[in-house]
Amino acid sequence: MLVGCPKELKVREYRVGLIPASAKALVSAGHQVLVEKGAGLGAGIQDEEYTEVGAHLVASAEEVWQRAEMIVKVKEPIEPEYGSMRPGQILYTFLHLAAEPKLTRVLLERQVTGIAYETIQVGRTLPLLKPMSEVAGRMSIQVGAWCLEKHQGGKGLLLCGVTGVKKGRVTILGGGTVGVSAAAIALGMGAEVTLLDTNLERLDYLDQIFGGRLQTLFSNEHNIEQAVLCADLVVGGVLIAGARAPKLVTKSLVSRMTKGSVIVDVAIDQGGCIETIKPTNHDNPTFLVDGVVHYGVTNMPGAVARTSTFALANATMPYMKKIADLGVRAAVKSDAALMAGLNTYQGKVTYKAVADAHGMEFAAPEALLG
Ligand SMILES: NC(=O)c1ccc[n+]([C@@H]2O[C@H](COP(=O)([O-])OP(=O)(O)OC[C@H]3O[C@@H](n4cnc5c(N)ncnc54)[C@H](O)[C@@H]3O)[C@@H](O)[C@H]2O)c1
Repeated sequence: MLVGCPKELKVREYRVGLIPASAKALVSAGHQVLVEKGAGLGAGIQDEEYTEVGAHLVASAEEVWQRAEMIVKVKEPIEPEYGSMRPGQILYTFLHLAAEPKLTRVLLERQVTGIAYETIQVGRTLPLLKPMSEVAGRMSIQVGAWCLEKHQGGKGLLLCGVTGVKKGRVTILGGGTVGVSAAAIALGMGAEVTLLDTNLERLDYLDQIFGGRLQTLFSNEHNIEQAVLCADLVVGGVLIAGARAPKLVTKSLVSRMTKGSVIVDVAIDQGGCIETIKPTNHDNPTFLVDGVVHYGVTNMPGAVARTSTFALANATMPYMKKIADLGVRAAVKSDAALMAGLNTYQGKVTYKAVADAHGMEFAAPEALLG
């Protein structure tokens, strides 16, 4: 198969979809690899590192899109890339289609086979989302601490406190990968941390691994209200796979938070779990609503592109190789995890939550693939 990797176009997105080790594995298995010149530079990967393992460099993204049977990326395509997609082309990347009605329509019109990293599922886990969630969860406390500084609009509070002065209070919504990663860093910094989830088994597990240092709370309207109102920093990390995030914190609740408090809504890529959040980027990461600092960067791991690129590639590699080796139809049919990753195929939405989010018809992938 001809596998292509263009440079990412999103603002301040420095990650790249393919690393030399993955290119090498593809080439060794008899596949061809095209990489846009300079695609890896943002992650500190030089062009020669690709050519040394047998990949071919091409001058433009357009050439990659035109020639490759499978496009490997990091983020969902943005408008300038929409026109480059070809019928039957496989697009293997984060897609977040439930929050992207226009992109969903483009993938259907152009008959692109969209395999979304974030919905590839093994049992209850999402192995391709996990490394990025780990990065974003850890970063959420780092950026939250920065937003709490006075000149960022924050209340001028040091999360860990100092001798004789109260620590900061962190409330984390969702106890999945983002939540546990955020909790580990916040506790490590010495903050007081409360984490809410609807999954009691998960809360039990977190109680045990953090040895009682973490306050766990069942997630319901009442507990959310109390935990948000007493927080200096709220981290949003809930997920209902493939669906838009539930709005757990209402506009009116935000208006009752202390001025200078901070919200880092990591779940923004699925629409966010805070009613007042809007997507932002690394150039202008924050805005204020009712005196509360909101951080809604949709591609947080892009800021630590090198770490993120390698962490993501470790997880994407096995599925990418399977698709290249078997072809998309056989690969998806042979692997339930990949079947769950199939979001669009032959002009149909094949992921139920995406179809529901846009009021579109759902086509069961098992039936469509025969
Ligand atoms: N902004 C970014 O750059 C970035 C990067 C990585 C991940 N993310 C996003 O972060 C979000 C969380 O990812 P994750 O890997 O931690 O997901 P996860 O599936 O590991 O965890 C989600 C958790 O949310 C919980 N949950 C569901 N409904 C809830 C509710 N009503 N109240 C409280 N908890 C609830 C689930 O029980 C689960 O434990 C996703 O939307 C993901 O796409 C964003």
